[in-house]
Amino acid sequence: MEEVPLEAQRSQAPEAESERGAQTRITVDSPRAMQELGRRIAGLLRPGDLVLLTGELGAGKTTLTRGLGEGLGVRGAVTSPTFVIARVHPSLTGGPALVHVDAYRLGGGLEEMEDLDLDVSLPESVVVVEWGDGKVEELSDDRLHVVIARAVGHEEVLDDVREVSVRGVGARWDAGAGLEALAGALSE
Ligand SMILES: Nc1ncnc2c1ncn2[C@@H]1O[C@H](COP(=O)(O)OP(=O)(O)OP(=O)(O)O)[C@@H](O)[C@H]1O
Ligand SMILES: [Mg+2]
Repeated sequence: MEEVPLEAQRSQAPEAESERGAQTRITVDSPRAMQELGRRIAGLLRPGDLVLLTGELGAGKTTLTRGLGEGLGVRGAVTSPTFVIARVHPSLTGGPALVHVDAYRLGGGLEEMEDLDLDVSLPESVVVVEWGDGKVEELSDDRLHVVIARAVGHEEVLDDVREVSVRGVGARWDAGAGLEALAGALSE
């Protein structure tokens, strides 16, 4: 079994006092490691959880969601929902469904999201929203904000390196709820 290195330093929540919460930063150096991080995050998630994914085009939001889907044991391949705004992946194991939303073209935010008429109960699902910042926060007081940034560097080898910040907002994540365990070398 191969080791996937995930380096991390724990850090305090940043600037915004109002959004204080548990936070972990993780360096992810390959698509495989990003997927593995997704599987790890899935292990922390419960029905009703909301995960917001932020990062530029091609940052790795869908790649991470693929790992979430694997970790949750859901049906169907997680792909970029280019022609649909949301896709529901039912659980194969009696757990929560994964609702994968691409809010890129969701101009109106939450209202449109509610209009999507998803054939699923959000409180019983795990909802993951790409490009959801500033649009769907009202869905839940408790949220996991995952921000993916390309590492800044001049070397070509850094092309695959991403700095990922995972921050829990709300009482659900107050005590950390296992976020600190996301870091560290992983063996699959
Ligand atoms: N460390 C890494 N983590 C994730 N993806 C990586 C990494 N290094 C390279 N990649 C590549 O970057 C691309 C990420 O694509 P992905 O669809 O996951 O991004 P996205 O953030 O969902 O983009 P979009 O905003 O278009 O939805 C893939 O082609 C993947 O192979
Ligand atoms: Mg995507």
